[in-house]
Amino acid sequence: MTDTHLVVFTPSGKRGQFETGTPILTAARQLGVDLDSVCGGRGICSKCQITPSFGEFPKHGVTAEPDALSDWNAVEQRYKDKRGMIDGRRLGCQATVQGDIVVDVPPESQVHKQVVRKAASDRVMTMDPATKLYFVKVQEPDMHEPSGDLERLAAALKAEWDVADVAASLSVLSKLQPALRKGGWEVTVALHKGHRDTQSRILDVWPGYYDGGIYGMAIDLGSTTIAAHLCDLRDGSVLASSGVMNPQIRFGEDLMSRVSYAMMNPGGDQDMTSAVREAINGLTHTIATEALIDPNLIFETVFVCNPVMHHLLLGIDPVELGQAPFALTTSESLSLDARDLGLTAMNQTARVFVLPCIAGHVGADAAAVALSEQPGQSDDLVLIVDVGTNAEILLGNRDRVLACSSPTGPAFEGAQISSGQRAAPGAIERIEIDPVTKEPRFQVIGSQLWSDEDGFMESTQASGITGICGSGIIEAVAEMRMAGLLDPSGLIGSADQTGTWRCIPEGRTNAYVIYDASETGGPKITVTQGDIRAIQLAKSALYAGARLLMDDMGVETVDRVVLAGAFGAHISSKHAMVLGMIPDAPLSAVSSAGNAAGTGARIALCNIGSRKDIERTVREITKVETAIEPKFQEHFVNANALPHATDPFPELSKIVSLPDVSFNTKGGDSDTGGRRRRRRA
Ligand code: FES
Repeated sequence: MTDTHLVVFTPSGKRGQFETGTPILTAARQLGVDLDSVCGGRGICSKCQITPSFGEFPKHGVTAEPDALSDWNAVEQRYKDKRGMIDGRRLGCQATVQGDIVVDVPPESQVHKQVVRKAASDRVMTMDPATKLYFVKVQEPDMHEPSGDLERLAAALKAEWDVADVAASLSVLSKLQPALRKGGWEVTVALHKGHRDTQSRILDVWPGYYDGGIYGMAIDLGSTTIAAHLCDLRDGSVLASSGVMNPQIRFGEDLMSRVSYAMMNPGGDQDMTSAVREAINGLTHTIATEALIDPNLIFETVFVCNPVMHHLLLGIDPVELGQAPFALTTSESLSLDARDLGLTAMNQTARVFVLPCIAGHVGADAAAVALSEQPGQSDDLVLIVDVGTNAEILLGNRDRVLACSSPTGPAFEGAQISSGQRAAPGAIERIEIDPVTKEPRFQVIGSQLWSDEDGFMESTQASGITGICGSGIIEAVAEMRMAGLLDPSGLIGSADQTGTWRCIPEGRTNAYVIYDASETGGPKITVTQGDIRAIQLAKSALYAGARLLMDDMGVETVDRVVLAGAFGAHISSKHAMVLGMIPDAPLSAVSSAGNAAGTGARIALCNIGSRKDIERTVREITKVETAIEPKFQEHFVNANALPHATDPFPELSKIVSLPDVSFNTKGGDSDTGGRRRRRRA
């Protein structure tokens, strides 16, 4: 009779009795312990590394003798010589059980690795991508038992990895025979299985053992910008992040103007589809070059986007989204072949996953924010605003989550602003205005120094001072209000009214000069009355959307506010509240989540289970349609003032006192300095 021994795995605490000579990898598999292996226990991949512990372990009821594992063997020595291995580690497929033992599985040896996200929250995501690598030994062909190479590969995948029902495209089939022969009947395959697939697809095949990397992209396809993360599908790490302007801007700045373009111009939708696909192909090249990887190793891309971008990416005319009842072609998530979307810059077998939409106006980007920020798991009432050309707004807690989207326009992204620009070196991103002297000081992207500090001009010599980005314009307008250069109606005062030469006339209105290098041929950066109006329209739309959700929820205040968006991490909460972008709340309850939609896309890329979660979650979210809600208009008009015409901002007034100024010299409706005009709602 063979002896059995107790094996205890940490950190899982799983334990079981195993016969002498059982490899640790086998014991782990039988107990369901999360121990990785790509080579199937052949001592090639080193993914199965474990750390045995010897001595007394009263907690586990184990005494592990020094000879509780088999001796260090030649396979382990060869691996250590070639690639190196931390002292004390063993290969789980080589070390066998000889006595009672405690075995630790280090984090990097776990299949479902926990990846700590860089976002403000410390939530972790678990690695379980749809595409994984498998190494297999395939039976050689036999004339007496004829069968194809693919069939024998499928049999090996079934026998070694319990993967059934495998399919391969023609491009993979054409590589299979050379790969098998070159690898001496050993190959590594990239296998993809979507969460609703019954079949696994072979996306690529390499001779022998391959561990050179497989990658995926998480893309937040916005109306103004397209932002991508390139992720390693083995460990979830982000190798590069990059973005481009959405070239569809030339067809219309915002979503509705693009829908109109499609309505007015036969074939216009196809032009926009081609433009965005071309941009994604360019971005794929850029990001792969940045990360120094071959774009052919990109096997999956996850998209999050608003409904109009969703349709235009897929090549579907968005005309129905421009009119009530705003019917989507499909609100379900989609799993597709990248080549069917014309995405040719990645591997030709690559797969695409598009998150589900919530409703005709509330897209997959809002779904991705929900996946990233999990309002439905929150004990307190959280308002999440994803600031972009179209703002996605979610309000909820464990009981109920509401969502809407609000057309803010591109002002928050620096577009439609006279000195606006993308967040790039040289753009003003922080600004302070002295309330007494009315003099500004600012910081530009690419330099840590403030403009009134020694060395500032030298430190910005390379980039120059070129314009104002989205977070910069929010601060500039709020600082102007705090310094008394701007009245509550949004009117900029004249030099006489404000006492500073920086307020200069511009047509019948005024502008505030932040920086003037025009004498030396440089730019003159100002905030004009038109800029203020664009920001007022944008922030009114945002606030009105949030307010509408609060009405539906029956609340006057929220417990927490999370600012998200491509530049969400850079928005100052205080300035956002001075503008009245967000409802009044203690500043300590306002946080930034960075690009939550992009993070949601990354989670869906790295964890296949999350795809099911979000499909369930979107069904549970209550959609609120801003476009047809009469209350929206009323909230919008009231939100035009800075911070608000009627809503009190008690928390804001505890920290900031806003000057009581009025620059309307004619009295009555205050739209321009010198003329009476009806305000546009
Ligand atoms: Fe690959 Fe052990 S399983 S080296």
